[in-house]
Amino acid sequence: MGLNYYQIKKNILRARKLVIRGTNAAGSGHPGGSFSMAEILGCLFNKHLKFDPDNPQWDDRDRLVLSKGHAAPGLFSNMAVAGYFPESEIDTLRKFGSKLQGHPDLKCPGVEFCGGSLGTGLSYSIGIALAAKIDSKNHHVYTIIGDGESDEGQVWEAAMTASKYKVDNLTAFLDRNFIQQDSYTEKIMPLDENLEGSEISEMWKDASRWKTGDKWRSFGWNVIEIDGHRVEQIDAAIMKANATKGVPTIIISRTIKGKSIEHMEDNPQWHGKAPDSDVVPIINLELDSQFMIAPSIIAGDMTNLENEIKRCVTGRADYIHLDVMDGQFVPTKTFDHNKIKELRPLTVIPFDTHLMITEPVKYVKDYVDAGSDIITVHAEVTDESSFGEIHDVLRQNQVGVGLSINPDTELPEWSYKFLQSLDQLIVMSVVPGKSGQKYIEETHEKMTRLNSILKQHNFSGYIEADGGVNLENIGSVFSDGARAFVGGGAIIGQRDVRAAIRDFRNEVLKSRRYELLAKANELGGSDLVNKWIGLHVIGEKQEQIKKIAQEAGFI
Ligand code: DX5
Ligand code: ZN
Repeated sequence: MGLNYYQIKKNILRARKLVIRGTNAAGSGHPGGSFSMAEILGCLFNKHLKFDPDNPQWDDRDRLVLSKGHAAPGLFSNMAVAGYFPESEIDTLRKFGSKLQGHPDLKCPGVEFCGGSLGTGLSYSIGIALAAKIDSKNHHVYTIIGDGESDEGQVWEAAMTASKYKVDNLTAFLDRNFIQQDSYTEKIMPLDENLEGSEISEMWKDASRWKTGDKWRSFGWNVIEIDGHRVEQIDAAIMKANATKGVPTIIISRTIKGKSIEHMEDNPQWHGKAPDSDVVPIINLELDSQFMIAPSIIAGDMTNLENEIKRCVTGRADYIHLDVMDGQFVPTKTFDHNKIKELRPLTVIPFDTHLMITEPVKYVKDYVDAGSDIITVHAEVTDESSFGEIHDVLRQNQVGVGLSINPDTELPEWSYKFLQSLDQLIVMSVVPGKSGQKYIEETHEKMTRLNSILKQHNFSGYIEADGGVNLENIGSVFSDGARAFVGGGAIIGQRDVRAAIRDFRNEVLKSRRYELLAKANELGGSDLVNKWIGLHVIGEKQEQIKKIAQEAGFI
């Protein structure tokens, strides 16, 4: 079984867009805390939570308690995506008579707990978890608490109680975004130690300084600490938590308030404020412009791929690109599913398996069983029938479905009917066979052609650029529409993988900032460009963005 990575990601994106839509329509609400927990809710709703939107009171459902109730737009958006009510109902957020109020309310079928009075959700969760035990029910209780609400003494009374009564059918998440209401948690009431200084948001990126986990350990809890925006880490943590018996578990998730929208990130202003209508289209474009970096390990030491995986992990790769070559589809041979199986236990980072083999339909199941999360096969060696079969096998196993085309191949017409449900399209920008080749310039032009076909057929997946991507061309490859970037020579071939990935990200970021400014310029000229720039008040962003706007002649 795969992680279902892309499907979860797509639904998280849909939910984030609904948060923007709802808070904008209401003219108020809490986007910041909705976005910090977006991946946590996304993993729960799309993978772990047992529920039935057509029967919200189903007795055996898992219970989700949103203790940090002000982040209701995040909860409602996920409920809409999950089918509890139509997505358009988000327009009634906070309106008189609506079931979607500023804080979760039992009026809304599917909501388990009336949030708003902070500090009480964990106690309530313990109650329903203990009730489930008494009734010999085996549903699970998931509770999300905030770091701001951890100022409440009741949270710590609950912490003692859960461990005394061994409430192991309860998993809590601490959405550790370091911001409460209008300032930083560590200024108002520190949960950590020694977190003082001026570079506040930078300093908090240093995990070695976080001590909140120790507090919970001392209360007798099983503590798991993760990056709360990494789907694979959340997924693994939930599985570990569910397997832990005799103690309650808390998953301390380091998150970023306002995550995904640069001007909202780490910015206390966006705790409780709605975006203006004129910037909403730019925000939606920014949400559509999330991107991923995938190092290709064949560019490293083929005799020690284990070490290459480790370099990807320390380098903070989004996922790991595995080039399988069989010596027939391409002249070279690399490795097969047996090797992938051996590498799988080394990390939870998604495996992006690129099958450059003839007859992929024969072997695709082996690659599923080896632990791939996304599998891409080539259009040159599939047809409507074999790709249909591959598509179904992958979907059944929660593995992302990818199709790849060589530089000389156009998207075949038979593939059009699959485009709507395709997760990934690899557009090869070198002739496959080896890493370290030069990017084929015609690919830019090909991408323009492809984009119009993809749009016509409602493609909502990710375009992955593969071959010869480097720091010089990645910005324009992003502008062409690619959202996932494979890096062989330019990442794995480098001594410092972490720095190489960081540089890749920064180049994409520059290009993305330009695209967003161009959108602002198109929609509202220099006034909107200036407004957009003015929103970026944290760190050095504003100056950097202003410079891009000036160079482009937007202001
Ligand atoms: C080519 C492979 C690519 C390649 C990437 O056949 O599919 O993944 O190894 O390496 P670079 O980035 O060096 O072209
Ligand atoms: Zn590849």
